[in-house]
Amino acid sequence: MSTNPVVPLLDLKPQYQSIKQEIDEAVARVIASQIFILGPEVEAFEKEIAEYCSVKHAIGCTSGSDAIVLALMAIGGKPGEEVLCPSYTFFATGGAVARIGMKPVWVDIDPVTYNMCPALTAEAAKSCKKLKAIMPVHLYGQSADMDAFYTLGTRLGTAIIEDAAQAIGSRDAQGAPVGTRGAIATWSFFPSKNLGGFGDAGMCTTDCPHLADSMKMLRVHGSRVKYIHKYVGMNGRLDALQAAILRVKLRHLETWHAGRQRNAAFYDGAFAAAGASDSRTPLSVQGKSGFAMRFPYKIPAPARHIYNQYIIRVPQGMRDDLRAHLTEQKIGTEIYYPVPLHLQECFEYLGTKPGTLPHTEAASLETIALPIFPDLTQDQLQHVAEQVVKYVTANSKSSISV
Ligand SMILES: Cc1ncc(COP(=O)(O)O)c(C=O)c1O
Repeated sequence: MSTNPVVPLLDLKPQYQSIKQEIDEAVARVIASQIFILGPEVEAFEKEIAEYCSVKHAIGCTSGSDAIVLALMAIGGKPGEEVLCPSYTFFATGGAVARIGMKPVWVDIDPVTYNMCPALTAEAAKSCKKLKAIMPVHLYGQSADMDAFYTLGTRLGTAIIEDAAQAIGSRDAQGAPVGTRGAIATWSFFPSKNLGGFGDAGMCTTDCPHLADSMKMLRVHGSRVKYIHKYVGMNGRLDALQAAILRVKLRHLETWHAGRQRNAAFYDGAFAAAGASDSRTPLSVQGKSGFAMRFPYKIPAPARHIYNQYIIRVPQGMRDDLRAHLTEQKIGTEIYYPVPLHLQECFEYLGTKPGTLPHTEAASLETIALPIFPDLTQDQLQHVAEQVVKYVTANSKSSISV
């Protein structure tokens, strides 16, 4: 009798096993050097990331969250100044803004890509009094509409900071690598990212030598020369151990991206065959088959989606039950993100009421992430697709709203 495979949302052990020797050698090299903070490994990694991301400068730092703080400090962000950003994102996007006293101004998403909507950003900018930056997030590994944001930023004379934490190696609709259109891009190497460290790590990138210089100082308490401080910065340095590990992993990143893209194509095909449309068709449009599920729309080439997450959408009443069913079937899932930032208790002081961002609020109730990591086996992929299709087929008629 065949048993169904267990499918975790993410399992990094096979990846480590496949590159164990390279990683262990890199770690041993750092330990032998006894240089643990910044130093030659970090400098080499910064050079390699700058090249990979097609930018001139890369500044390694402690995390993707601190990378955003460094970027905002480098552009001279002051308490009370406004940053237009999405609410449907990981907490750090808005948290980093608020951490330095700046004011997040929430903008709704485009429900097709889940990325911040440029038209609504332009609209929100009209009521800003102290607008300092626009911060699109390349959510789940697919680029935001950078052409539109670049045009808007230029028109308003406002800096664009790209929160590219989830999107290393992704390209926008025009084929430009993410991180190359904004003044600064910020990156995360949190272990679950396509390029993930063995702990926390992050990076800022820019083409501007002045911003690069500021961020280099800001990550060491605002100091260029030891004990002489030009700014009040932070302890935001990247560890040499993380850099050495990430240098090894960077060499394999394209293969891992390809694995995720292959897995996404498998799911897309399986769900389309079952009658699902992609996220361009709202769930409220029943369509011919009435199959109440949407798989993620992929912007066509030269754009490039690197699938940090694979997100499907089902009606509100079905999402949590589908998750429970998949858990029963030993399939790991996650909800990104169940409570949008504008509805978080810590942001109540901003006064954004429920109902203000309808696409964000609907997405937070309707989306669910499926396992997508590159080491998934065909059996595992098949099991996930079958169980999703089985559940949605059995529950479509009753749950869809027309
Ligand atoms: C969109 C986004 N921004 C910022 C961050 C923060 O990165 P880190 O966890 O490295 O601080 C993350 C991490 O998950 C993220 O997904």
